[in-house]
Amino acid sequence: MERVPIAALPRAARSEVSKVVVVGFVAAIRVLKRMIFVIVHDRTGRVQVTIERSDRAAARSVEEAALSLTVGSAIRVRGTVIENSAVKVGGVELLASEIDVVGPAESGLPVDESSASDLQLDWRFLALRRPASLLVFEVQTTVERAMREYWAQHSFLELHSPKLMHSASESGADTFATSYFELGTAYLAQSPQFYKQMAMAAGFERVFEIGPVFRAEPSLTPRHAAEFTSVDVELSWIDSHEDVMRMEETWLQHILSTVRREHGDAIERELGTEVRVPALPFPRLTMREAHAFLRGEGHVIPEVTKPSDIDPAGERLLARWALETHGSEFLFLTDYPSSLRPFYHMRYDDPAVTKSFDLLWKGVEITTGAQREHRHNRLARQAEEAGLRESVSYYLDFFRYGCPPHGGFGLGLARLLMLMLGLPSIREATFLHRGPNRITP
Ligand code: 4AD
Ligand code: MG
Repeated sequence: MERVPIAALPRAARSEVSKVVVVGFVAAIRVLKRMIFVIVHDRTGRVQVTIERSDRAAARSVEEAALSLTVGSAIRVRGTVIENSAVKVGGVELLASEIDVVGPAESGLPVDESSASDLQLDWRFLALRRPASLLVFEVQTTVERAMREYWAQHSFLELHSPKLMHSASESGADTFATSYFELGTAYLAQSPQFYKQMAMAAGFERVFEIGPVFRAEPSLTPRHAAEFTSVDVELSWIDSHEDVMRMEETWLQHILSTVRREHGDAIERELGTEVRVPALPFPRLTMREAHAFLRGEGHVIPEVTKPSDIDPAGERLLARWALETHGSEFLFLTDYPSSLRPFYHMRYDDPAVTKSFDLLWKGVEITTGAQREHRHNRLARQAEEAGLRESVSYYLDFFRYGCPPHGGFGLGLARLLMLMLGLPSIREATFLHRGPNRITP
């Protein structure tokens, strides 16, 4: 007999095929004088399994099996599904004729929903059994599919760039180093930045990559991980970073409308968050305008913030402005000072300002992007000023034999999910978190 997903049981109860096999985990057991109720869940839902207690020998073996169950065990149940409007879960119950304990659980699970979040991470596989956690990964799957749909419709090529590198790809401070044969030290990629640009020099025109990146940042904030999935895009023959922002906002609108259509109700029910499809274009503010606005609001940027940068509280004020004046949860901040940007961002005629942007969603950065400097002599000069000329000489070579104007962005997948689903941190939006204090499980 074939296994029936729990969500399909109400239909089975109304049909001829009411004898079914259900598989799943034991969520709860209630033993009464005449009955035993076992709640079983699989990926699709929960069902009440009912075992009648009787003296008949045939019934006793099911009863014994039911009495020996522990919460969490993986079981297979054979039985008859019937409609029963008194049953809260799904309006059906499964009258068990046979219970197989396929994977018994030790008694007393180490975590439940009320446990501290660190304990939940220690026992991540148990936390992931809950419907709300499962939903995060159903949505993630849809998000990546929607991303790829857009890219396929717009002729993007997929890249798989190496994660072992000869030199740091973003800033020197945040790299993990490892020994690498006779060649000395290798660094784990902080971003596919250099290689997606190489693809532009190779004439690929439009590329994307979804892959792991590594940052040795000692940050313990809800927004930082030491390893995360980065979504990267790069496109050629642009006029400015504005072309990159236009692509990104259209792409995000497609992603959000797909998620809303396919999971909007479940997200609202399980997580209490509404997924809104954004109107285009997203509001844009230059960093100069953003600073002027914050001054006008009397906001004082704390001294720990890098000169000319905006602190998280300032970003939240700007987000409120975007929501109140434009009805937008999204805001592009553009034209960052060169001092805050990597050497490869293109600068205006005024070299103190770059053709770059960040995208904030609900006040949190989800993206950094820019037009890149594709002119070899300027790029080499900027690398020189950053003290990187030697270590990135192979990268500079990409621009020596003709490279089109190009730009792109990087987006943290877990940040996108955290904000989309209203999760407290990226830890809940990641299958397994990696941070300064955590490398297990
Ligand atoms: O802002 P970042 O560092 O930019 C780059 O990597 C550039 N190469 C992008 C480009 O194409 N110019 O990282 C991009 C995004 C951030 O906006 C954020 O969403 C996410 O990656 N991110 C992190 N997510 C989790 N943990 C961290 N430690 C992150 N650092 C960045
Ligand atoms: Mg950034």
